[in-house]
Amino acid sequence: MKNKTIFFILSLLMVAISSCNRDKNNPGYAYMADYDMYFSKYDKAYDASTILPNGQVNQPAPEGAVARKSSYYPYHPKGVVERMTDQVKAGKELDNPLKATKENIAEGKRQFEIFCSDCHGFDAKGNGHLYKEKLFPAKPSDLTGSHVQEMPDGSIFFVITEGSASGLMGPHGTQVTPENRWKIVDYLRSIVK
Ligand code: HEC
Repeated sequence: MKNKTIFFILSLLMVAISSCNRDKNNPGYAYMADYDMYFSKYDKAYDASTILPNGQVNQPAPEGAVARKSSYYPYHPKGVVERMTDQVKAGKELDNPLKATKENIAEGKRQFEIFCSDCHGFDAKGNGHLYKEKLFPAKPSDLTGSHVQEMPDGSIFFVITEGSASGLMGPHGTQVTPENRWKIVDYLRSIVK
């Protein structure tokens, strides 16, 4: 009985001591047969890949991929001519991702009143405070008129982002988020019936 206990304790000690190893990256002796459990074949972060092209692990996003919470917007016009052509292109290429729900239209109205009504007026007809008081020299467009209403959603979105082609209306891309630009478009559609 006694011998058995001593033998048991001794063998446990041997196992414990032999498991220790100064090298922290070495798992020591593996007592189980299944080696994969001890020595898993993992790749180190930033190691070259053996299966992907050029060994590159992090692949670039596919062309045209849109980051979450952002919208597809490839235009960076420089000057009047590019603004003119891009405005037409945007009308064909950009789809309004937002439904004209009551909430979206209400927020569009709020955004319009903050960012556009100074020039375009609360009724959007182009007689805003700044123009009426001669504080802004150029006549703002009537946004309820057929010229603007016949423009596709994407072109209006573009004008808000980059300003008008002539440059008389400045860009509002830094003030109005993409989502709110679409809501303004929905609002502008809703005021003409
Ligand atoms: C500082 C004054 C000003 C502000 C603010 C302003 N606009 Fe304008 N907007 C103008 C003027 C002036 C024009 C006419 C410019 C032209 O003919 O080039 C215009 C033209 C437009 C057009 C017609 C462009 C075209 O191609 O015919 C649209 C659409 C428009 N504005 C929408 C908006 C919206 C939406 C906002 C708010 C986000 C806004 N504007 C804010 C002054 C302003």
